[in-house]
Amino acid sequence: YEIYLNGMTGAVPRLPTDLTRLEELTERRLGPGPVGYVAGSAGNGSTARANRAALDRRRIVPRMLRDVHERDLSVRVLGRDLPAPLALAPVGVLSIMHPDAEPAAARAAAAQGVPYILSSASSTPMEQVAEAMGDAERWFQLYWAKDREVTRSFLRRAWASGYSVLVVTLDTPLLAWRPRDLDQAYLPFLHGVGTANYFSDPAFRAGLAKPVHEDPNAAVMHFVGMFADPGKTWPDLAFLRENWDGPIVLKGVLHPDDARLAADAGMDGVVVSNHGGRQVAGSVAAADALPRVAEAVGDRLTVLFDSGIRSGDDIVKALALGARAVLVGRPYAYGLGLDGQAGVEHVIRCLLAELDLTLALSGHTGPAGVGPDDLVEDAV
Ligand code: FNR
Repeated sequence: YEIYLNGMTGAVPRLPTDLTRLEELTERRLGPGPVGYVAGSAGNGSTARANRAALDRRRIVPRMLRDVHERDLSVRVLGRDLPAPLALAPVGVLSIMHPDAEPAAARAAAAQGVPYILSSASSTPMEQVAEAMGDAERWFQLYWAKDREVTRSFLRRAWASGYSVLVVTLDTPLLAWRPRDLDQAYLPFLHGVGTANYFSDPAFRAGLAKPVHEDPNAAVMHFVGMFADPGKTWPDLAFLRENWDGPIVLKGVLHPDDARLAADAGMDGVVVSNHGGRQVAGSVAAADALPRVAEAVGDRLTVLFDSGIRSGDDIVKALALGARAVLVGRPYAYGLGLDGQAGVEHVIRCLLAELDLTLALSGHTGPAGVGPDDLVEDAV
């Protein structure tokens, strides 16, 4: 109610509370290059639109007179008690949004108690981001490099600096066809943005003919050639299992059979995600894939969800479709672009406040009570 109470004194929030308005404001502030990269998606954008349509098509059926006076948003996820079913998705190259970049987003997550998932393609080395977070909950997202020694080194560095869950992104063995970036010839990596974890890595540096500062272009090209590996297959997961002592979550799983393979491989969770519509043009909407994955492995794995979450009611819908918790990507990147750490905190607080209100108004005292019966689907 803080935002409403501020209204009594005429104080309006610095940023809109409808998070779908942030993209346009950020574009006005930062211009089309950076926002094109963040907002853009694969192909003609149909996957990103389908993500939204699949959430919009589902409607909550509220229940009345159920005593929702006392409420609690907390959930247990991968053996951790989280204050709410929300984490910040791994979003790389955040220095294109704001000079404070990942450390500012991480501090915002820490201040609100939600886990921060640091991208491999961070503009800041993972150790510096960890330092900015104190002992707050942090997870590390891995782009699974071609070079085994670099992967091993990343895992060692991440564990040593307090990242406790490994999120392995499977949907980006190659960068997709993204027309907005192609048309603007805008790819942050080619300017050395998003390479900080690599350039600071001893195993990566050992693979260079000359030190990064002597030949930065060669270092960028080396990065482009090794940051991901289209040759990987399911048995390769054994390497990660052997080299990581904490939970491992596979991000980008959409098919129920892949979710079963993840469980068979000894993984702890999956993120049902199509990378916010940025990878496979024409892919199934993430919210349509979610119930099928949850049904297949919900009793064996922790099922998380992202791609299209923009509001508290979207989170309620994802919970009803079988997610234990959700990740949010673009909205906090825009919050960062508009107001640094405070902008990211604004986004998190809006999502949590709206989640709390939507749950209460729908007759729930917390995430646990939400299930498939709480939704209906509009006819298409
Ligand atoms: C991403 N995403 C992403 N995912 C990942 O595993 N590693 C990464 O480095 C990145 N980088 C990245 C950059 C930008 C600019 C965006 C928008 C997204 C995908 C991200 O984790 C998440 O899956 C989506 O952003 C979720 O969709 P919404 O919330 O943006 O709709």
